[in-house]
Amino acid sequence: MQTTRVLARSAPWSTAPLPAGCMETLGARELESVLFTLAQTVEMRDAHTAGHCARLASLSVALGEELGLSEAELVALRRGGYLHDIGKIAVPDAILFKRGPLTADEWAVMRDHTVKGEEICRGIGSLRLTLPIIRNHHEHWDGTGYPDRLTGEQIPLLARIMQVVDVYDALVTARPYKPAMSHAQACRELADEARRGWRDPRLVSLFLTRFPGPESVLAQAA
Ligand SMILES: [Fe+2]
Repeated sequence: MQTTRVLARSAPWSTAPLPAGCMETLGARELESVLFTLAQTVEMRDAHTAGHCARLASLSVALGEELGLSEAELVALRRGGYLHDIGKIAVPDAILFKRGPLTADEWAVMRDHTVKGEEICRGIGSLRLTLPIIRNHHEHWDGTGYPDRLTGEQIPLLARIMQVVDVYDALVTARPYKPAMSHAQACRELADEARRGWRDPRLVSLFLTRFPGPESVLAQAA
């Protein structure tokens, strides 16, 4: 009630920080609900990514089950599928939808969506296991990724799982600057990226075994 009054008094465009204690007063479930709505908003900004988050949630949980992960970890993967790119809410359209190559400064803003996303979700205890997915889903196995340049198993396992399914889904989805690859082409590209040292080779191998054909992916995403 107190929070409702506080928020109601704040102009929606206000950049002033919320009063101390405001986040605690808003229930964790309400906060989660707000965040998932925000995440959907991020997805809706780009018509070409429709359904991307739901597919990532399903595919990552399927891989997690193959690995025998705990229920809590599977829940974190499902949430991570929806929330991994929530930090893109802080990326201006001019950068997010730029057709040409990004400048160095624009890339810095784009890369920062991982850190911003973690900051947005950090206050919610129930998202503790999801935070590393949000922050580290663009790390590379060989240490050339971002934001922390982690290598190998330093990269949280849930983030490595999300990355494999994220890359696959991006490859099989048409974007304004590229056509969609077939399942077979995307699997070859994933295997190639593992050979080049970008992806966890064990997880890529598991993905290729778990999803031998496009119908196996569709069955998960249904
Ligand atoms: Fe991302």
